[in-house]
Amino acid sequence: MLEHGGCLIEAARRFGIPVADWLDLSTGIAPWPYPLPLPPPEVWQRLPEENDGLEEAARAFYGAEVLPVPGSQWAIETIPRLLPPGRVMMPQPIYAEHPHAWAAAGHTRVGWDAPADYAVVCNPNNPSGERYSRSELLSLAARVRLLVVDEAFIDAEPRESLAGSGADNTLVLRSLGKFFGLAGVRLGFVLGPAAWRQRLRGHLSPWAVAHPARWAARLALADRGWQAAQRERLLAAARRLDATLRSLGTPAGCALFCYIATPRAEALFERLARCGILVRRFDDPPALRFGLPGDEAQWRRLEDALKDIG
Ligand SMILES: Cc1ncc(COP(=O)(O)O)c(C=O)c1O
Repeated sequence: MLEHGGCLIEAARRFGIPVADWLDLSTGIAPWPYPLPLPPPEVWQRLPEENDGLEEAARAFYGAEVLPVPGSQWAIETIPRLLPPGRVMMPQPIYAEHPHAWAAAGHTRVGWDAPADYAVVCNPNNPSGERYSRSELLSLAARVRLLVVDEAFIDAEPRESLAGSGADNTLVLRSLGKFFGLAGVRLGFVLGPAAWRQRLRGHLSPWAVAHPARWAARLALADRGWQAAQRERLLAAARRLDATLRSLGTPAGCALFCYIATPRAEALFERLARCGILVRRFDDPPALRFGLPGDEAQWRRLEDALKDIG
């Protein structure tokens, strides 16, 4: 398994700090998950069925037809396997599961802007926060056979989303994990041409998305009041995080995390970890990514640790 944020049990073992004592800023998962009620018993008892209202709620939220999948991770792994081996272009850094999946399926990664058969972009990018405009992405799509746009982190600011763009060689991936704070539910969506959705659907196991996941997603996707409040909360917290981290470098990022490219990444990671604050460290290029603190006590803890580090 590739390295990911959120590995608190491993951090507890390595640094000798109990799991409950960590401030986990190592993911880009919203610190305020959608407040789900308890599911009714039949959601646990009955097998899931399509057209239970999830597809309609998702279509209304994303503005496009969707294929629900067991996490966008499923699509990240499956799409490259359905394509003849070719050259795939993606920026560096990028969410590591993408190059890993394309390499595992026999494709060759080429540099950004090199001639390519396929292109993969995260918008905004994880971890660097870089953003692409719709027009940039559509001209990229015109240069390749298939463009995959991973919009896992776009929900707070979806203006440049390619959802519903109608581009017939573009697949858009969305996730319930980040903005909705429901990563454990394991639900994502593929948006794109009907033929592609149909093809991917044929590779899903029966009942691949659990009934509780479908039920939870339908509620979260339909709750416009909560979504508006979440958007505001996230954007305000991201601005505060940007200001808080200026002592370490120049933050970039999006509504769900801040990214700081710094040659001191490794040393800072260790110092923060010794204060019980887990962040995500990257080596190529050296950088740290900070998720959002969820309450005043967490903000103070981060601010105090940064003061200590100096
Ligand atoms: C950019 C990006 N895409 C996709 C995923 C996977 O999300 P999901 O929970 O929908 O599988 C992640 C998870 O960290 C991610 O960072």
